[in-house]
Amino acid sequence: MKPAFYITTPIYYVNDAPHVGHAYTSLACDVMARFKRLDGFDVKYLTGTDEHGQKVEKSAQAQGVAPKEFTDRVSQNFRDMAAQMGYSNDDFIRTTEERHFRSCQALWTELEKRGEIYLGAYEGWYAVRDEAFYTESELTVGPDGKKHAPSGAEVEWVKEPSYFFKLSAWQDRLLAHYEANPDFIGPNSRRNEVISFVKGGLLDLSVSRTTFGWGVPVPSNPQHVMYVWLDALTNYITAVGYPDQTGDYARYWPADLHMVGKDIIRFHAVYWPAFLMAAGLQPPKRVYAHGWWTIEGQKMSKSLGNVITPAALVERYGIDAVRYFLLREMPFGADGDFSHRSMVGRLNTELANDLGNLAQRSLSMINKNCGAVLPVPGPFTDDDKAMLDPARGLLARLRPAIDTQSFHEAIEAVWVVVRAANGYVDRQAPWALKKTDPERMGTVLYVLAETVRCIALILQPFMPTTMGRMLDQLSVPADQRDFSCFDKPLVGGTPLPPPQGLFPRYQDPEAEEAAK
Ligand code: MSP
Repeated sequence: MKPAFYITTPIYYVNDAPHVGHAYTSLACDVMARFKRLDGFDVKYLTGTDEHGQKVEKSAQAQGVAPKEFTDRVSQNFRDMAAQMGYSNDDFIRTTEERHFRSCQALWTELEKRGEIYLGAYEGWYAVRDEAFYTESELTVGPDGKKHAPSGAEVEWVKEPSYFFKLSAWQDRLLAHYEANPDFIGPNSRRNEVISFVKGGLLDLSVSRTTFGWGVPVPSNPQHVMYVWLDALTNYITAVGYPDQTGDYARYWPADLHMVGKDIIRFHAVYWPAFLMAAGLQPPKRVYAHGWWTIEGQKMSKSLGNVITPAALVERYGIDAVRYFLLREMPFGADGDFSHRSMVGRLNTELANDLGNLAQRSLSMINKNCGAVLPVPGPFTDDDKAMLDPARGLLARLRPAIDTQSFHEAIEAVWVVVRAANGYVDRQAPWALKKTDPERMGTVLYVLAETVRCIALILQPFMPTTMGRMLDQLSVPADQRDFSCFDKPLVGGTPLPPPQGLFPRYQDPEAEEAAK
């Protein structure tokens, strides 16, 4: 049986329209999911929408509709984003679904039964935008004279009866868990940040609210709705069938990876493992927090009007160029900036010139000079071997990079081979061999085609559509595109279809002018 691999995105707040930040988290998961599927894993890739809480209730009110009607409408925007960006998620969960109510209430009941939850009263600060509680010492006073959370969100004073989760009792066990599982939190900077936060001491966490009703009712006391983060985090086990612990739960839980942005690491690496351990369940294997995008040097915000939607990007540059750019531009885990100029630069240089031309010129020569049939190679020279060995070594090279979410490193490793192949064509000059040594020309073109095959196979997770077309042009059968066929070389004598350009250059007078 194939090994299981369970990967999740955060579930998105439906009050916001999908933007490039959301697209980014899901894209990283999609690339991992596709890579693992091609590499022989039974993958479950989950995404969805976070539909409860005060923030969503307020957005519905502002539009004058009932929350359910509002969430039904806006949740669809995130399904559309998945289709626009080519995500291969296996499930899409909504927290308003019946399966999720059942799961949340079962988890609550278990926590209560184990004495991990008690009734009290909360009095303190709350930021609706973050759906998070803050202590006085975390707050600063803004230029508007109002108090703000470290995220910049406004806070309000809340005083109401509330259930509490005994988080304070989990400090030592959480620290022991981080210690025993060094890979539990990535990257390392976030791990250190979480450890020092937990070492600083944990307060019991308010986990229910009574002043609004848009949430999952507390089973033993339906005056209360569950805190939206307890509800939201539970989605990860709902989707594998909890409270049933056989079937998918047994197969996929604990999740291999929760991918999140840096702003929500605390919920995933502190609260969530504590809830799970307190309920006698296993914590996820790993939580990875990536960085944030700015746009042309500025924070993305509705008020600045610079929010970029995935749909607009895809329409302008093409789906695979966008997918490539987002994971290539900044080291995963760090922050980075999205600029039109940089997007066009990479599209034209790395995709159109480096990769597109490599494939195009190799395949065109085969088409013109070899009767559109892949040549049967003669003996390989040292230079041929120096080209083929690293190309065939790409799978082994990329596995550890993908497993540690080093996407830009993975892409760079492929580009080392792409650039080497361009150097190899120039050195071997197959066009000149046509008259002098046609057999040698055949071998050189075969080496190039085989190199392109390895590149296209390994890049499928990043650029599934274009790499699929590249493999079509090499006549690689559909059932020989997974990584178990990585070592299965092209067969000389195979007819090839006429080549077509895959990455048209982006013509943009504005950017070209600016680049001068
Ligand atoms: N609903 C919660 C998550 C609950 S998970 C149990 C939430 N939703 S969100 O819609 O606000 O954010 C979802 C993801 O988008 C987060 O991982 C966040 O980091 C990411 N991004 C939002 N803006 C971003 C950028 N500007 N750049 C990169 N990622 C960003 O939080």
